Amino acid sequence: MIEISDLSKINRMENVEVRAPDGVTLGIAKGEFIGIMGASGSGKTTLLHMLGLLDEPTNGKIVIEGTDVLALSDYEKTMFRLYKLGYVFQDYALVPDLTVMENVSLPAMLRKDRSEEQIQKDSDFVLEKIGLIDRRDHLPRELSGGQQQRVSIARAIVNKPDILFADEPCANLDTENSRMVLDLFHDINEEMKQTIVMVSHEDWHKEYFHRIVRLRDGKIASDGYNNHPHPAA
Ligand SMILES: Nc1ncnc2c1ncn2[C@@H]1O[C@H](COP(=O)(O)OP(=O)(O)OP(=O)(O)O)[C@@H](O)[C@H]1O
Ligand SMILES: [Mg+2]
Repeated sequence: MIEISDLSKINRMENVEVRAPDGVTLGIAKGEFIGIMGASGSGKTTLLHMLGLLDEPTNGKIVIEGTDVLALSDYEKTMFRLYKLGYVFQDYALVPDLTVMENVSLPAMLRKDRSEEQIQKDSDFVLEKIGLIDRRDHLPRELSGGQQQRVSIARAIVNKPDILFADEPCANLDTENSRMVLDLFHDINEEMKQTIVMVSHEDWHKEYFHRIVRLRDGKIASDGYNNHPHPAA
């Protein structure tokens, strides 16, 4: 469960002050697959980064599973990210000199709470899930964009995070690859009951989300459930 109260970020560019998000209050239930939509500049990325503890708001409160996350120290935030959160970015953000396997193992290695053998097993498991186990020893540049994004999803889920954040993960992909990535998120959400918060501005992605929150000028313009049953119901 994520509880967001009156969250705002003020950015100053020269003499112009932009507030986005601007007083956002929102609750996200455990297991929900939520889409954050809205025009360019409406504050989607800023909101996602604040929820993912990658950026700090100007004011407001974020409580994730009972923890007032903005009150945590930097070290505690790092640990919270490593144990509870997973990230998928638009540009994949894979390390170019590491193999697929090494990229996927990275967040597991950082945690230092599993043996190397266990990490190998866990990484193989997620590579199997994304259908790229046969590419485990390849470098990212030897894969297509869609395959690279699937590897970045494997890396995001290897630590079994409670919440997965994705900022326009299909922005650089064609429709077929976008569908593969969205289907993967759908399966992860169904099988692992992970909460997924995804930013998108592609209208056809709507069908994948349980719920859609639209931002306009930093504020919530609409918030509604799709045809899917509410996961908490
Ligand atoms: N580092 C920054 N410095 C100044 N202004 C910023 C900064 N980051 C974001 N902004 C401004 O905050 C507003 C929201 O930006 P944000 O990136 O969250 O929008 P977005 O909805 O993700 O847009 P897009 O669909 O283009 O990715 C924009 O007006 C943007 O110009
Ligand atoms: Mg953005």
